[in-house]
Amino acid sequence: MLGKLLSYNVEENKIKVAFEKGEGYITVIKSGIINFFVPLLREEKLSKAVENLTVEKCEFNTTLKDEVLTVSTEEINVKIYSDFKVDVYDKAGSLLCEDYRGKREPFVRRAGDFKLAEDEGHELAKDLKDKVYVAKTMEEDMFFYGMGERTGSLNKRGYHYRNWNTDNPNPHGETFEQLYKSIPFLINFRENKSFGLFFDNTFESSFDLGKENPNYYSFASVDGNLDYYFIYGPSVKEVIKGYTHITGTTPLPQLWTLGYQQCRWSYTPEARVRELAKNFREKDIPCDTLFLDIDYMDGYRVFTWDKNKFENPEKMLKELKEQGFKVVTIIDPGVKKDTGYKIYDEGIKKGYFATDKDNVVYVNKVWPGDAVYPNFLSTEVRKWWAENQKIMTETGVSGIWNDMNEPASFNGPLPDDVMFNEDGLKVEHREIHNVYGQLMSKATYNGLKAATGKRPYVITRACYAGIQKYSTCWTGDNQSTWEHLRMSLPMLMNLGLSGVAFCGTDVGGFGFDCTGELLSRWVQVGAFTPLFRNHSSMGTRDQEPWAFDETTEAVNRKYIKLRYKLLPYFYDLMREAEKSGLPVIRPLFLHYENDSNTYEVNDEFLCGENILVAPVIEQGRKCRVVYLPKGDKWIDYWTGEEFDGGQNIIRETPIDLCPIYIKAGAVLPYYPEQHYVGEKQIDTLELQVFLSNSDETSSKYISYEDDGESFNYRDGVYNEYEISVEKKEVTNINLVKTHNGYTLAYKDIKFTVNNAEPTEVIVNGEGCAFEKVGNGVEFKITAKDDINIVIR
Ligand code: GLC
Repeated sequence: MLGKLLSYNVEENKIKVAFEKGEGYITVIKSGIINFFVPLLREEKLSKAVENLTVEKCEFNTTLKDEVLTVSTEEINVKIYSDFKVDVYDKAGSLLCEDYRGKREPFVRRAGDFKLAEDEGHELAKDLKDKVYVAKTMEEDMFFYGMGERTGSLNKRGYHYRNWNTDNPNPHGETFEQLYKSIPFLINFRENKSFGLFFDNTFESSFDLGKENPNYYSFASVDGNLDYYFIYGPSVKEVIKGYTHITGTTPLPQLWTLGYQQCRWSYTPEARVRELAKNFREKDIPCDTLFLDIDYMDGYRVFTWDKNKFENPEKMLKELKEQGFKVVTIIDPGVKKDTGYKIYDEGIKKGYFATDKDNVVYVNKVWPGDAVYPNFLSTEVRKWWAENQKIMTETGVSGIWNDMNEPASFNGPLPDDVMFNEDGLKVEHREIHNVYGQLMSKATYNGLKAATGKRPYVITRACYAGIQKYSTCWTGDNQSTWEHLRMSLPMLMNLGLSGVAFCGTDVGGFGFDCTGELLSRWVQVGAFTPLFRNHSSMGTRDQEPWAFDETTEAVNRKYIKLRYKLLPYFYDLMREAEKSGLPVIRPLFLHYENDSNTYEVNDEFLCGENILVAPVIEQGRKCRVVYLPKGDKWIDYWTGEEFDGGQNIIRETPIDLCPIYIKAGAVLPYYPEQHYVGEKQIDTLELQVFLSNSDETSSKYISYEDDGESFNYRDGVYNEYEISVEKKEVTNINLVKTHNGYTLAYKDIKFTVNNAEPTEVIVNGEGCAFEKVGNGVEFKITAKDDINIVIR
């Protein structure tokens, strides 16, 4: 493409390379992160994923010999050849990532007279007209992960995907190449050689992972710049850390957002919402959040209330809040075309909506009928949208749900040339389509932050890479089918690996009619996914925890209560996500890269590092095979039985039992039973220590504490406790308060040490009374900054 490599010059971290037919840029972001850039469309980057990136000053060397430029950092060597071909090596000289030099040879689609098939409704796969195209050599031992929200298996080898945010209400299946989100970030996993590729291009793009030809994998786009990042591991954890260094991590959410959430299209009128709230409390099923879908609005006009259905929303929200319920309302981007409606009038007056080429406001159709689309590309429009959030928060709304922001349209897709305006720069829809939902969520986030001062709770359906900074994501309109429960595991694991630590699916399924058994199994998964929201479509069978039979209700109660017990664990995981980018729901291989049996486990996941969940995802299953990763022992959460890692075991699975295994040696923090976050003032931190029966173990756990809602933690107003457990002949537990900034701290710490039969427990040199419980002991002590416990 660019011809012969001629010369280069270095300016700080940026290397400009002159080729015969143009220029290419290489930026050393960090010693393991390199950006490759060719300005094919425009000189500036205008990235919607990478904001405020700090490029650290770091050492690197450059040499040019025989038309090959070598850039060596502390971690990798990058070789750049003529035509901007790039190879990356690790410091031991192993080739990590090689540009493919062979011929592009797609497999042949024998379509024959395809017209005939079309008559029956079949569609012939279409290839994109690539303007930007990069192919890399594929090796046999490469596994592929990431790329956001995708149907299909955990390992993406052999798949082909597209990035074009799409609202397709048909049941999502493995044949779907695109869904609501576009996250063009790929993890290439090889033991000790993993790296990531982030293709920051917002036009319609595709990833082919050896489907076209097993000799290479590629990414391509219909337009835009060549702009991609190589992110070195060598572990996948490091790759995610690198990717979230560029695109941002998930900020710590308010604690209540980790509780159980109930949604349905449509909870109206007010009496129904109140009844729902009453049921949760009466039936002793914890719940923090209720959602209102589109029908709370006046004729689907965003930022309004239908006063026939909700006479006095302030009063209702206030009273619900007194019962511990937070209410989240949906806000779609489509603004009803309706003179006399404030939002429409204001937007028209100020020129805030997208237009056609002739500058006439563009109209399509969504829920309110004819509707116009805010130009979220403009800073001023985002400010306006942010300001409007006040209309909701001042009524008492606690979070905002952004939907239909692909953007969806009922009157055919938005044409490519619908015009948006980025603070003076005219931009076509085909360039910004994939970031429309992202920019809407960013505006929502900023608006909620300004209006409440609290950590914003935003949920979005459509987005682009980097969304985690602004919003949690749900995976759109799934169905109440076993297939969709099964699929949700690899989908959420890959979404998590793609930076979105806070995510979930509609528990119970959105479309179609759920059954008691399916809901029971789904809630067992939901209890371990960060976003835990039951949602269903209008016109489908009721799906609340009590909507079926007593067994289903009991199973729902049991797992929702388990979730509330584990709330501090989830909160600690979110804190970790903000610091390291690591997801909450993790594929097994993330912690067991040396155990090749874990690379393609689709039907189990780790919740953080310490809990392995092997849910039942098939109707009628009375038992299932559970793979326990090598190198650790695993304790059955329900029975306390201990198992060696590196084996498949068979676990009985009655309807109320989801197989859960705790890593031996681990510490889990628990909260007491509550119906909602804040129901009780929690003075005691309960720490459950899961010792191994047989093995020596050593582990570390960080427990985090703050006010659960404000941004004060960013000024140091939090506490952190480091707990280390070492089991040899005696067991030593040390708890050190490593950060002391929050005054309403735990007053006591209750330890439950499982698998221990001590004769004495010594706390800071003095004997401590303990009680025998189950197969362990329990004791409670006053919180101190430094606690040393010896158990023998
Ligand atoms: C879309 C959303 C769904 C919502 C519905 C009505 O289908 O994905 O969650 O309930 O619109 O707003």
